[in-house]
Parts: sequence; structure tokens; C-alpha cells
Amino acid sequence: MEKEILKKLEAKELKISILGLGYVGLPLALEFYKNGFEIYGIDVDKEKVEKLNNGISYVLDVSNEEIKDAIKSGKFKVFDSYEVIKEVDVIIIAVPTPLSKTKDPDLSYILDAVENIKNHLKKGHIVILESTTYPGTTDEIIKSKLEETGLKCGEDFFLAFSPERINPGDKVYKIKNTPKVVGGVDEISGIIVKNIYSKIVDEVVLVSSSKVAEMAKLLENTFRAVNIALVNELAIMCNILNIDVWEVIESAGSKPFGFMKFYPGPGIGGHCIPIDPIYLSWKMKTLNYNARLIEVASEINTNMPRYVVQRISDILNEYERSIKGSRILILGVTYKKDVSDIRESPAIDIISMLADKGAIVYYFDPYVEKINIGELEIERVELTSETIKESDIVVLITDHSVFDYDFIYKNSNLIFDTKNAFRKYSEKVYRL
Ligand SMILES: NC(=O)c1ccc[n+]([C@@H]2O[C@H](COP(=O)([O-])OP(=O)(O)OC[C@H]3O[C@@H](n4cnc5c(N)ncnc54)[C@H](O)[C@@H]3O)[C@@H](O)[C@H]2O)c1
Repeated sequence: MEKEILKKLEAKELKISILGLGYVGLPLALEFYKNGFEIYGIDVDKEKVEKLNNGISYVLDVSNEEIKDAIKSGKFKVFDSYEVIKEVDVIIIAVPTPLSKTKDPDLSYILDAVENIKNHLKKGHIVILESTTYPGTTDEIIKSKLEETGLKCGEDFFLAFSPERINPGDKVYKIKNTPKVVGGVDEISGIIVKNIYSKIVDEVVLVSSSKVAEMAKLLENTFRAVNIALVNELAIMCNILNIDVWEVIESAGSKPFGFMKFYPGPGIGGHCIPIDPIYLSWKMKTLNYNARLIEVASEINTNMPRYVVQRISDILNEYERSIKGSRILILGVTYKKDVSDIRESPAIDIISMLADKGAIVYYFDPYVEKINIGELEIERVELTSETIKESDIVVLITDHSVFDYDFIYKNSNLIFDTKNAFRKYSEKVYRL
């Protein structure tokens, strides 16, 4: 069967289905499509499916033209139901893996997808999980669920984990030039899936098991979370010592070996860095091991929005003002620059805390028209010279490239800059 699959792959006759057409699934679907494969996208969100069918993109890195071309070709079809799985050869799962209200891994989206695959599983199917998760999800949970059909993994169907490494907003590293890790539940599954990704990615790194691949993804994101926590704490210490943390990091960065620059910020956001390490620490807790470094890093990073609010209060205090009654303009509400994603964004917590303390708080972000703080919907203001002048303080949370920093500086009364974007100015600018 392996030979037959690889022959079909070479002829680009393998039909590929992607479950979950979000930040990960949609660009991946288009990459396979551009490389000559027929794609069946599935998403439970009817609104997204309708937008795609009308040639409208909801992911900043994907243009409407790309969608229109793909849909028009007839080789990129999108559905809000699972029946088409019967017709495909490869099924890639790219659904969300958030935390539950009690901060435990929420695998319900994966389990729902697997349940639906199970109903249509047939001999020769290749199933790949891309969603980030804890070690053991693929070869323990998914494998056993799919084998309930009577089909055997490694013989009748094939199963692997291949973590997504997409970096939204990145202009250099795209799917093609970012090496992709693949770990099969068994040897044959690993080889087949390695060959599949080789059609769209320059380098595929095949590891010995799906568990290694799952852990590798968690290492990548935990590495970032821990190092960001380190510089966030460094920023707090430097403020106490009256030292410029940004200059410290740049000077340490002149060392050509053994050091890598990370920058502090107002807190971490997005679907990966704040969440993925918790998947690992949760799994370890079930085995009676306490992942201390992850817990401490998470505590420091989670506390940063509160620290930002404290700093705003201290700055206003210097000018004999309080947060209560002050007009505060927040610039940037997305979790990182040049993206439109506000999931887990620290800006939301900061705005909420400032509003609770009685500030008149409003925001501008070129990529976000409105945000919800609890029940409250807040629309963005226009970034005019009047809006800036009327604000007691401007707080930069996200350093989007399109911001005109000179214009903002010229019109502002006070600035609190959490990203060192106003580095060339000193007067009236306070830095994290
Ligand atoms: N966004 C990133 O930068 C990034 C990077 C690397 C890895 N990841 C991981 O990739 C996974 C997906 O993340 P994302 O950012 O694309 O999420 P997303 O929320 O943007 O997209 C997920 C999509 O899956 C759909 N969906 C939910 N349940 C479904 C089901 N049962 N069947 C079909 N579709 C379903 C949702 O409607 C949504 O459109 C997560 O595990 C995440 O941790 C994300």
C-alpha cells in the first residue's frame, strides 16, 4: 500500500483535506493547492466557509486574490461538513487547542475532528495532526480512537504528528522555507508523511516518533516563554535600578556566541506562547512532576499587564495625575506586530484594568475595528492629531510597522512605550 500511496503522491493525485481553516489550516491548504494538489477544506464555522466561497480572506497573510484564484480553479473546495472525507487520501487536523476555564488542555476540538474522521475512515487514509498538544495525544488518544473502527494503524491507515511552525506576519519565513518536523506513530507512517510534506517544504526533519515531534514543538514554545519571562523580569529589575533594559539587551547581544536576544513586552499573547507550555506542565502534573520553570515563567509573563498598569499609574503620578479621570490612548491591541489576531492579547487586560480604575481609555489599531471587554464592545478611534493631543498619555502596546512614530511623538503629551519603538526620543517618553 505504501508504494501505491507514494506513486499517487508523485503524480500529485493524492487528495488532501484540511480540517480547520484558521491561521494554520488556510495558508497550509493554499500551499498544497499551489503545488498542484486538490484540496478539500473543512471548517465547522459556516461564516468562514461562506467567506472563502465568496473569495474573502480573514487571515492577514492570505490575500483575497489567492482565495479567489484557488476557488475558481475548482481544485480548492471548502465545506462545513465531513462527508467529503470519504473522497480524500490525506486528512490534516489543524483545529484549536486552547485551555479550558480551569486552565487545563482542552482537546475537545481534536476529539470532535477525530470522531468525525472515524465515521469515514477507510483503508489507505493518512491522518496528520498539526495542532499543538502534549506528548502522547497522537499515538495514545488518536490512534486508539481510530483503531476502534477495526482498521489497524501502520497497515490499514497511517498516522503522524507534524507541528505547525507558522509565524504570522513574518515576511521572511514562510511555509516553504521553514523546516518541518514529522514524527510517525510507526515507521511507515513517518516515511509517508515526510514524503507528503516534502512536496511543499524545502526541508523535512523526520524524527523517531510522534511523541518526539509533539515534545519538540512544546520545547520551541516553552523556550520562548521562559526567555521572554527572563527579559520581562530583567525589565522590572532595570526599572528599579534605573538602567535602560533595552540598552542592556543590545549590549549583551554584541556577544557573537552563547546569547540570543529576547525583548520584554506588555505580556504574551496569541494561541501559542501563553498556552503551549501549560500543555506540558499539565501533562507532567498528571505524572506527579512539577514543571517549575514553566510555572514561574508563566507567572511572570501573566503579571506583565498588571505591571504596565502600575507603571502608567507611576508616570501619571509624577505629573500629579491619577489613572482615574485620565484620558489614555492605547496604540495596538493585537498580540504582536503586523497581525490582526487579538487572542490572549495583553492589551485587552490592560484596557480592562485601566477602565476598572476609572480611566477614560480608548484605542487605535489599524488591524482591529472593535474589541470586546467582557460585555462591552469598544470601537477604535481614529488616529488624528486631535485624538493624540487630547490624551494625557499614549501607551504603545503593539509596535505595528505602519505606525507613524514621528507623528505620534509630535502630537503627544506623554508616552509609555512598552516596545522601545520611540527609541530615538527621550523627552516625555517612558520605556518599559
Ligand atoms: N496561529 C499560530 O500562529 C499557530 C502557530 C503554530 C501552531 N498553532 C497551532 O495550530 C492549531 C490551530 O491554530 P489556529 O491559530 O489555526 O486556530 P484558528 O482558531 O485560527 O483555526 C482553527 C479553525 O478550526 C475550526 N474548527 C474547530 N473545530 C473544528 C472541527 N472539529 N472540524 C473542523 N474545523 C474545526 C475553527 O472554526 C477555526 O476556523 C492550534 O493547535 C495552535 O496551537 C498555531
